[in-house]
Amino acid sequence: KMIYVLNGPNLNLLGKRQPEIYGHETLEDVDHLCQSVAGDSHAIRLLQSNWEGQIVDWIHEARDSACGIVINPGALTHTSVAILDALNAFDGPVIEVHISQVHKREAFRHHSYVSMRADGVIAGLGLEGYAAAVRRVVTLTSD
Ligand code: DQA
Repeated sequence: KMIYVLNGPNLNLLGKRQPEIYGHETLEDVDHLCQSVAGDSHAIRLLQSNWEGQIVDWIHEARDSACGIVINPGALTHTSVAILDALNAFDGPVIEVHISQVHKREAFRHHSYVSMRADGVIAGLGLEGYAAAVRRVVTLTSD
């Protein structure tokens, strides 16, 4: 079984951009963390793009190849009806992750289109949020 861990714009700079908000660890560290949580039962495919359409395409691909999706859509969280629509065409569990506590930040970060589809939402746990999200997908897709 495969879990997609999708990351939106600017998350390629994780560890380098605004470390006071997002910390010093990188997306590669997120990948290793997710792999270790998934164990032997599930494989992880961690992907990142700065392009909305690429993320939509990966969600479509997940319809055939993934049992669940963990997604940090970055700023697209707050703007993208297209990502919401794509997730609505996906049948498995979807967990939304934000590294920072978005509700403590600017008002424009308080609304999420993706939350209208997500089965769980995590914010402010740093990279641990990805681990919790992967664990949740494993729980929901194990039989
Ligand atoms: C983020 C929060 C978003 O508001 C922001 O645009 C990001 C990262 C987070 O992980 O905390 O790029 O999704």
